[in-house]
Amino acid sequence: MTDSLTIRDNRTGEEHEIEIVDGTIRAADLKKVGGLATYDPGFVNTASCRSAITYIDGEQGILEYRGYPIEQLAEQSSFLEVCYLLLNGELPTSDQLAQWTHDVTHHTFLHENIKSLMTGFRYDAHPMGMTMSSISALSTFYPHASNISDPENRYLQITRMIAKMPTIGAFAYRHSQGKPYIYPDNGLSYCANFLSMLFKMSERDYVADERLVKALEVLFILHADHEQNCSANAVRSVGSSQVDPYSAVAAGVGALYGPLHGGANEAVLKMLRRIGTTDNIPGFIEGVKEGKEKLMGFGHRVYKNYDPRAKIIKKATEDVFEVTGVNPLLKIAQELEKIALEDEYFVSRKLYPNVDFYSGLIYEALQFPPEMFTVLFAIGRTPGWLAQWQELVTDKEQKIARPKQIYTGERQREFVPIDQR
Ligand code: CMC
Repeated sequence: MTDSLTIRDNRTGEEHEIEIVDGTIRAADLKKVGGLATYDPGFVNTASCRSAITYIDGEQGILEYRGYPIEQLAEQSSFLEVCYLLLNGELPTSDQLAQWTHDVTHHTFLHENIKSLMTGFRYDAHPMGMTMSSISALSTFYPHASNISDPENRYLQITRMIAKMPTIGAFAYRHSQGKPYIYPDNGLSYCANFLSMLFKMSERDYVADERLVKALEVLFILHADHEQNCSANAVRSVGSSQVDPYSAVAAGVGALYGPLHGGANEAVLKMLRRIGTTDNIPGFIEGVKEGKEKLMGFGHRVYKNYDPRAKIIKKATEDVFEVTGVNPLLKIAQELEKIALEDEYFVSRKLYPNVDFYSGLIYEALQFPPEMFTVLFAIGRTPGWLAQWQELVTDKEQKIARPKQIYTGERQREFVPIDQR
């Protein structure tokens, strides 16, 4: 073997040859080295799958969906076109796009009982918790979804989920506002309909500013997939048990909810508000360097360069602010970025703004409260989760996810009756 690794086990003096394929060795091959396993909390250097969906070069700051640069897709594509691309591997022809748009548009309504379920949440329920619960509830409305080996059935569930996410997200928002839920308007585009369900009041037709519709399309495209991130890994891990896709995607929503993942944009806004004025930035930065807190919206497991999505969002921020007026927090964010990018602490750790640093500012300009930011991320990420899930269930190499552990606890203790403890 030329593409191989020779491992000498110093415990026994034995040598073992292990094949290298695609820059990786199979962890299972290490078993022959005296039962060796790898220890990798957080999967920092472990590939869990082969995937042809999204390519990232973190050092260069490159992101591609199915080989197409994110910059071109954000500029020239629509969100539904990107969904099709992620799910099918190719950009649609105009007929295919028309069919796909038709299919998605005709699944936007929710069963009335899902609506009833949502009305049952407390008035101050976090919309992300409502979204997660409502998606998992959908599995009970579509029990046939568990037939995951049938491609037609998979297509139907995928279409439903992409169609219903904005409706669920909008209902969750209206709930938190105490406003009546607005049903989908299937005469509108995906994003225009979402804005209508969010903001329509007594007018007959809600007409959103085209520039804001475009900004939302761009934001959804930027969030559509990001290869094996925490939530995609959750979807794959849960999906590996061969559960239905609603349950798997609900797990992804749960993962995205956390402040280190999708919850970061909400945390950024809270942080900017707490900093309050540019005068307070140096003191805040000192606190971060002393380890008191993190600079939210900075740093990434994969990007050791400027996140390409953050660059596009920064530009979109300017377009949105033309319509809505400038968010005063922008000045603090820009100054914070400038100071951090010149500071040794951030430079030496290669910490750059990530997608969440500026997205919250746009969302706020679009009138969303911070609790809704992660829901927006979830709507955008749904095609990615589903493409990852579909790839998983059609990949013959995949198995149920079941990592090993290094056991550090007690062994073989005698049970002590309660009166003797
Ligand atoms: N502020 C201050 N220090 C940081 C930050 C930050 N935002 N991020 C990383 N560091 C430090 C960290 O303390 C460590 O320092 P040291 O080597 O002295 O211990 C070093 O940089 C390496 O960090 P890490 O925690 O080993 O990196 P990771 O790959 O495990 O974590 C991360 C990646 C995104 C969780 C982390 O950078 C972070 O918590 N950032 C803030 C939250 C955030 O913005 N999340 C959104 C990520 S992008 C959207 C998404 O994909 O969900």
